[in-house]
Amino acid sequence: MLKKLLLSALLAPILSHGVLAQNQTQSEIAMKIESLLSKMTLEEKIGQLNQYTARWEMTGPAPTGSSEQELLEEIKNGKVGSMLNVTGAEATMKAQKLAVENTRLGIPLIFGYDVIHGYKTMFPIPLATASSWDPSAAELSAHVAAVEAAASGIQWTFAPMVDISRDARWGRVMEGAGEDPYLGTKMATAQVRGFQGNNLSADNTIAACAKHFAAYGFVEAGRDYNTVDISEYTLQNVVLPPFKAAVDAGVATLMNSFNVIGGIPSTANPHLLRDILKGEWGFDGFVVSDWNSIGEIKNHGVAPDLKEAARLAIIAGSDMDMEGYAYLPFLKQLVEEGLVDEALIDDAARRVLRVKFELGLFDDPYKYSKLDEKGLILNEENLKAAREVAKKSIVLLKNENNLLPLKKAGQKIAVIGDLADDKDSPIGSWRAQAITGSAVSLLEGIENAVEDQSSVVFERGPVFISNEPQFTQHLQYNETDPSGIEEAVELAKEMDVVVLALGENCFQTGEGRSQTDITLKGYQQELLEAVCEVNKNVVVVLMNGRPLVINWMAEHVPAIVEAWHLGSEAGNAIADVLFGDYNPAGKLTVSFPRSVGQCPIYYNHFSTGRAADTGTVFWSHYTDESNDPLFPFGYGLSYTTFDYSDLNLSAGEITADQKLKVSVVVKNTGVFDGEEVVQLYVQDLYGSIARPVKELKGFEKIFLKAGESKTVEFELGAADLAFFGVDKTWKAEPGNFNLWVGTNSQSGLKGAFKLK
Ligand code: GLC
Repeated sequence: MLKKLLLSALLAPILSHGVLAQNQTQSEIAMKIESLLSKMTLEEKIGQLNQYTARWEMTGPAPTGSSEQELLEEIKNGKVGSMLNVTGAEATMKAQKLAVENTRLGIPLIFGYDVIHGYKTMFPIPLATASSWDPSAAELSAHVAAVEAAASGIQWTFAPMVDISRDARWGRVMEGAGEDPYLGTKMATAQVRGFQGNNLSADNTIAACAKHFAAYGFVEAGRDYNTVDISEYTLQNVVLPPFKAAVDAGVATLMNSFNVIGGIPSTANPHLLRDILKGEWGFDGFVVSDWNSIGEIKNHGVAPDLKEAARLAIIAGSDMDMEGYAYLPFLKQLVEEGLVDEALIDDAARRVLRVKFELGLFDDPYKYSKLDEKGLILNEENLKAAREVAKKSIVLLKNENNLLPLKKAGQKIAVIGDLADDKDSPIGSWRAQAITGSAVSLLEGIENAVEDQSSVVFERGPVFISNEPQFTQHLQYNETDPSGIEEAVELAKEMDVVVLALGENCFQTGEGRSQTDITLKGYQQELLEAVCEVNKNVVVVLMNGRPLVINWMAEHVPAIVEAWHLGSEAGNAIADVLFGDYNPAGKLTVSFPRSVGQCPIYYNHFSTGRAADTGTVFWSHYTDESNDPLFPFGYGLSYTTFDYSDLNLSAGEITADQKLKVSVVVKNTGVFDGEEVVQLYVQDLYGSIARPVKELKGFEKIFLKAGESKTVEFELGAADLAFFGVDKTWKAEPGNFNLWVGTNSQSGLKGAFKLK
């Protein structure tokens, strides 16, 4: 009941926005933009396209260093349209005054910031929230983040990150929703709605930014910032759908990606930006470059200098230059030399002004800096929401002999591992203004849950990381001092059950954090095997930001809980699951490889021409590993069990204008009430281009009391079967289809139908 009350209370502002009309219509805004644009000089228009990061604590006097002094003057002279990394009501107020009170036209700045999974109250990393398969959870996470960010003077977040990724080596897999475009569209829509509500001018909504446009998740070898070389078909069918969903949801901005696609930098790609985004999709917001991605057009070898890079980027449709120092110095010259049409500058400036008007910044430039910063941030209500989302994000990977749930009394519990006591790593990478070390640790969560804290004993085991992790520097794993293993083993011998925290420090994932080795670092594997040697009742709590290779663990450990980096309330949420106060229902949105050599590995792959084992070596396989993941997309267990029966299709064939109704009966056959994510997969048996062996086309999360049954229904029509085919149009092609309804991507009741 609390959950429903809490969620309705927290979602109410969003719902109210649904009925609050925008306090200015689009046509009124359009008129205001044109009127303002007509007064602006070319320099002032270009100034709107220039974004700088904060260089000094805005709450203090601008330092006199030349670059800071120069920046100060540029803000006052209308040469800066936006700043990022200025945070707090006071700092944003000061910076805003610099622009509004000194520039000729008083055009306000827009302040952007990376509010990815919380501002100060930290929610689970996006990959975790996606594992809830609950768009309302993603919306709630974004909404609370928006409330806290807006109360801190931030009007724009560089989120949601909607990059599809199939490669666990890439550090930024933690930041998105995983490997599937259908689930990605649902999460993208939910996050845009959570950040923006239905009224950008409201005090508790902020502009969102779908990023990174596009295909950043396809970097070769999972190495960050690396080359991307994918086909138009993969771009259209896999990469773009979440971006299209964000645009359809009204996202105010997009951000370029650093990478090339087939040799063309995304920042200078007119096909992406003009043809698709602003043309076909009709996007009327603005595109901000990623950090110096305009300048990096040079590094890609596509421009000899910054001036040419600026020309290519503005012509391609990149509207705002983040920290590239390309637009401000060169655009005027390019226009005067006839190399860039001033109409392009007008279009870019118009887009930026539109978002500023929609945010209400012209009505009151200081509105976001005048909110009660104290009461809205890191309050009990927000922490409760974080705990709600966190527990829904947990995936139960294994639970042999029903070792879980644990008892709150009458069990001696060893809690082991450096990560168990870590109050910082659960906050996750991309942590905005989170307070360092402010998360509830796993140990604290367990101690909060049990009746008698003396029944819980902690042993750290070997130290995991030997330096103080920072966002910008490399981690040093302890690989020289195994001390701590003996003490952990001695404790494990005496206790009824061991909860062993293993996984990753949060700065093993995030930007610039790709790894070639995705096994357990440091002495974690040694600790795991030593503890398992002396106690058979081991529960591993995995705290990580990417899929890991955990084959030994999967074979030898009776219970494994995938707990990701769950944010401020991590320990309490994990304890809710460990002790059965919440029956876990999360499902993986990324495949867990058996070996990093399988990466990229994903469920919605093509068949290839040699999929079948022919008994010879001449088929698509490895000689030293299976093709299958250790845990597949859509996989997750519960404390109860679910039975699927009575799959029914309303017809054996449909025409393009008909709908196929698919139903299945799901029964809770266990003793715990619980939720199940019922998943619908479809296979298009043949098409004008190769089609995936399976594609998620629907899911529904249901709650069933023990013994209860429910009929779950889906509908499929031509639109659901459409894809971007060889004639480069989106449509469903007639033919035969298989479908499955089940509990993950590797199982389910199978049906077939024909599209005529
Ligand atoms: C970073 C990231 C991007 C982020 C931006 C501003 O390099 O790629 O996601 O929003 O710079 O911090």
